[in-house]
Amino acid sequence: MKIRVPATSANLGPGFDSCGIALSMYLSVEVLGDSEQWEIIHTLGEDIPTDEKNLLVQTALKLAPSLAPKKLKMTSTIPLTRGLGSSSSVIVAGIELANRLGNLNLSELRKVELATQIEGHPDNVAPAICGDFVVACHFSERKENSVNYVKHYFPECDIIAFIPNTELLTSKSRGVLPENLPYKEAVKASAVANVMIAAVLNGNLPLAGKMMQEDRWHEIYRGKLVPHLSGIRQICKEEGAYGCFLSGAGPTILILTPAEKTERIIKILNALDSRAQVEHLSIDREGV
Ligand code: HSE
Repeated sequence: MKIRVPATSANLGPGFDSCGIALSMYLSVEVLGDSEQWEIIHTLGEDIPTDEKNLLVQTALKLAPSLAPKKLKMTSTIPLTRGLGSSSSVIVAGIELANRLGNLNLSELRKVELATQIEGHPDNVAPAICGDFVVACHFSERKENSVNYVKHYFPECDIIAFIPNTELLTSKSRGVLPENLPYKEAVKASAVANVMIAAVLNGNLPLAGKMMQEDRWHEIYRGKLVPHLSGIRQICKEEGAYGCFLSGAGPTILILTPAEKTERIIKILNALDSRAQVEHLSIDREGV
């Protein structure tokens, strides 16, 4: 049995903790067979446990505590701690593992609710489960009906990920956000998000991209942690991309562009920082 979960990019600028897209990079988990104890073969990094302490197994056992131990193989092309949903992909894989091995028959909604409870916000886990573009809201204080979401087709476009060679922990990136936002500022911030989402639903990428760069919830505070953000915004403007935004909590920056601009933008980004990884991606339409 094999499980494949896409990478995700959360927020899309103003859709903070709510919007996300699934991307064409993947975590794969293969069940190799029964085992005396949980055993995970992987090359993701020395710090990542190879036994039942691994987040994948922890998640699966939370849902199905009596699962018999297995030997698993885990491979991933999703860079860690770069804002591309690597930990969400593991949580979603753990839920799917429990669902299939334990015959839990979880609905898509239930998977989204369980994953959101574990992750804390739905904007990575929901598109990792559903694929494509997902807009979600999470009522963390509710035990039932805690997540509402809509999945929708994201208009066809090229996506370039500029992935810096430095990690940025979500906790650090959330730590620079303000406790409160003045009412008037919040109204403006949510209006920007509303137009961004409506433009995506209408297939109007130029307007969506413009709104993605008008975020007032988080990017203005996080910009100082991601030195390339303002330079890449300028490149997008000069080169005719639709727009760019911080992927999740950063430090990756995603650029949405018409296909004919892609090659030139990739060349410019490669020259900007030779240590950064620049990836040409597309939307994953399927999810887990
Ligand atoms: N919405 C979250 C954030 C995504 O921006 O902090 C990262 O996990």
